[in-house]
Amino acid sequence: MPLKFHIETVGCQMNVLDSELAMAGLIAAGYQPVSAKRYADIVLFNTCSVRQHAEDKIYSALGRLKHWKEQKPGAIIGVMGCMAQNDKEAVFKRAPHVDIVLGPGQLAQLPDLVKAVEQNRERQIAVSLDRISSKNTNPSPLTPSPSSLLPHPSAIKDSFRQFNPQRLLRARGNPHQAMVRIMFGCDKFCSYCIVPGVRGPEQSRPPHEIEAEICQLADQGCLEVTLIGQTVNSYRYKQGERIWRLQDLFAMIENIDGIRRVRFVTSFPRGMTDDLLQAIRDLPKVMPFVHVPAQSGSNAVLKRMKRHYSVEEYRDLLDRIDATIPGAAVTSDFIVGFCGETDDEYRQTVDLVKYGRFKNCFIFKYSERPGTTAAELFNDDVSEAVKKRRNNELLAIQNAISLELNAAMIGQTVEILVEGTSKNATKRQNTEQTTPDLVQIDLPENTPLPCDTVQLTGHTPCDRIVVFDGSPSLVGQILPIKIVQAAPFTLFGELSETQS
Ligand code: SAH
Ligand code: SF4
Ligand code: F3S
Repeated sequence: MPLKFHIETVGCQMNVLDSELAMAGLIAAGYQPVSAKRYADIVLFNTCSVRQHAEDKIYSALGRLKHWKEQKPGAIIGVMGCMAQNDKEAVFKRAPHVDIVLGPGQLAQLPDLVKAVEQNRERQIAVSLDRISSKNTNPSPLTPSPSSLLPHPSAIKDSFRQFNPQRLLRARGNPHQAMVRIMFGCDKFCSYCIVPGVRGPEQSRPPHEIEAEICQLADQGCLEVTLIGQTVNSYRYKQGERIWRLQDLFAMIENIDGIRRVRFVTSFPRGMTDDLLQAIRDLPKVMPFVHVPAQSGSNAVLKRMKRHYSVEEYRDLLDRIDATIPGAAVTSDFIVGFCGETDDEYRQTVDLVKYGRFKNCFIFKYSERPGTTAAELFNDDVSEAVKKRRNNELLAIQNAISLELNAAMIGQTVEILVEGTSKNATKRQNTEQTTPDLVQIDLPENTPLPCDTVQLTGHTPCDRIVVFDGSPSLVGQILPIKIVQAAPFTLFGELSETQS
């Protein structure tokens, strides 16, 4: 009997993709995926270190598995991803029942490590060379000095370079959509952020590798690809005399048959050049949606965060997006309660959120990360109560804007890629009861549905979620849907008569 495994994933889209690739690797090695921890012999956590809370949650989940492991001889527990890279051996100290610690750069080794534990019952660890401690040195093997004891930068790059195996449809779950990594790591070193330390140096993948992977996905029936990286608009690959940038990848994908939609996350404000915006406007497959985190509306805070742009430049970017791609949706991230953030500085963030009229925003309370520049230089001096108040207030402001923007879509007909059935597939939800601040006109009639009708979901080109009733056979099609109701995070639509 093959051993069964289950992967729990937290964190950003990098981790979601890594879990898919880890699953593909384990399936290829003969292990069998199961949908819940309780059926598994091997439980793996793909972890995130971006905020303290994310780490705390994993350690408590690990704590809860102690008893499970005692009851189940032969069970294996693994910790992968950014927290594994960040904490290294310390994971074993805090959770002694863990068998495997695996950094994101060592994903390819997972099946071998699982096999080693299975056979020898010995702990396994594989993580990358430490980037942070060697960040500001330039060791060279030719000039011996104490710093040459530190790893050479190219060795660090190699140790963070994740693998890119063949894509396995079974590991993806959704045949119509896929993420494609175009770059690893990050070199921005924003003062609060752990990511450059745990994901390593910025490295763009060769365009031919990306093209081959997308062609393979298209052959598997994929219609929409999302190009991912920490700052995808920093993509840069030198091939002979030619320099490839993000817009060149867009143009390349435009010619791949079968792919109908291209998305990309995340963008860094400073790299949103006019030619990139024009490419988004002019290339039909590229969706009019940009996630471009601002982090703060105060120049003083942006400076402490080492973001390398001003609020004026960010506002100018919003204006350029509006002028170049009318109707494009923009989303952002903000951190409230960063070191030394005064009421006035926070008010400037409120002003920017109001000015931006973002489709939605992710708003985070600052969480100090040991080893980052902010942790070294500044005091985490905004109280938890103030962080919470600012977070809640900003969320409420943003939610009202999201609802207004969604309500403005009522009556429009938009193209939706039908992605699947919504969670309560066979039940028609009474959205009036479940969604308190629903805006509605023209409520669809509450007539009984034919039994082959389920609740379907998909996204608009500008990345808004739409829910509507239809036959499951519509999954995987791109269809016009008329929007009839709106809530802050969801639109409700109807199929036109001919399609239903
Ligand atoms: N590369 C992306 C974001 C990666 S992390 C970018 O630069 O836009 C996702 C988000 O987490 C960040 O945009 C930031 O808003 C938030 N974040 C990162 N470090 C944080 C910290 N120490 N405390 C709170 N939020 C943080
Ligand atoms: Fe972190 Fe800044 Fe890099 Fe984003 S750009 S991953 S916030 S260091
Ligand atoms: Fe978290 Fe790592 Fe992503 S720290 S946000 S999972 S890159």
